[in-house]
Amino acid sequence: MIVQICVGSSCHLKGSEKIVELFQQAIKEHELDNEITLAGCFCTGQCNRIGVTITVNDEVHCGIIPERFDEFFNDKVMKALEEERAKFNGMSHS
Ligand code: FES
Repeated sequence: MIVQICVGSSCHLKGSEKIVELFQQAIKEHELDNEITLAGCFCTGQCNRIGVTITVNDEVHCGIIPERFDEFFNDKVMKALEEERAKFNGMSHS
């Protein structure tokens, strides 16, 4: 899974660095180094009034703030990961 965190100037001002930190922590905690690739990306043109833009695979999520990071991680990242795993398992069984 590829997670891209916007480091464009607008998102940068809204704390993308903090989000990157939180991501690194969460990846370590859940031992997901092999499954998640963290990358920075340039402005996707989705600058929101609050928060940072994060792209998970091809899904763009806007307005992520550090306070809501856990929610975002569990809801979007872990769920998408599980789906990916399920797909992968489905493939290897057929
Ligand atoms: S600066 Fe992040 S979406 Fe524009």
